[in-house]
Amino acid sequence: MLTVLDHPLVQHRMTYLRDIKTQPKLFRELVTELTEFLAFEALKSLNTVEVEVQTPVAKTTGRKVSDDIVLVPILRAGMGMLDAMLHVLPYAKVGVLGMQRNEETAEPVPYYAKVPPAKGDELAIVIDPMFATGGSAVDAVTQLKKLGYRRIVFLCLVTAPEGAANFEKHHPDVPVYTAAKDERLNSHFYIVPGLGDAGDRIFGTL
Ligand code: PRP
Ligand code: URA
Repeated sequence: MLTVLDHPLVQHRMTYLRDIKTQPKLFRELVTELTEFLAFEALKSLNTVEVEVQTPVAKTTGRKVSDDIVLVPILRAGMGMLDAMLHVLPYAKVGVLGMQRNEETAEPVPYYAKVPPAKGDELAIVIDPMFATGGSAVDAVTQLKKLGYRRIVFLCLVTAPEGAANFEKHHPDVPVYTAAKDERLNSHFYIVPGLGDAGDRIFGTL
């Protein structure tokens, strides 16, 4: 299921993110802020346990997150979302999947994988700003399922309808959270209006 964040603070940042005049420093800051909003929405149902806490005034109870979390950025653009995720989940483990689209066909070409094997009950959070044909996302989640992950969620910034439909067909059990659902893909499989090549804009390699 696809959830699109519907919030003025998200739309405001997305406008600057899309702008061709936005330079890498601001682009990275916006990616970080938007990722924290995505995490806030997507992780509402994290498991917690009750704990006792002594305030300066009284003893009370609070809750602590009890889930084991594995963050999985897809190289390379997914690295742009990692700091934000580690900021909100500082105790998370990190696994990495390297994936490069074939420029002609848009087929994902996996080139690296270093993800801890699953125990079974942890939550894997896959992060990649762009969800175009959905090919990279489908492949990443297929790899995680083969490693034994059963609880997976996907966070991205911009989604094309074609990618969302493709992903839903392959992994209907994996929720996807996005900051924007755009109009379509162009003939080069880029998202329209989109924001261009997210990796190039994050790393200044245009
Ligand atoms: C981009 C993006 C996704 C993928 C999305 O990566 O970060 O991984 O394309 O496209 P898809 O939905 O059609 O698979 P890219 O292959 O450009 O690599 P990069 O992150 O190294 O720039
Ligand atoms: N990857 C990107 O970075 N941008 C797109 O529009 C599509 C794939």
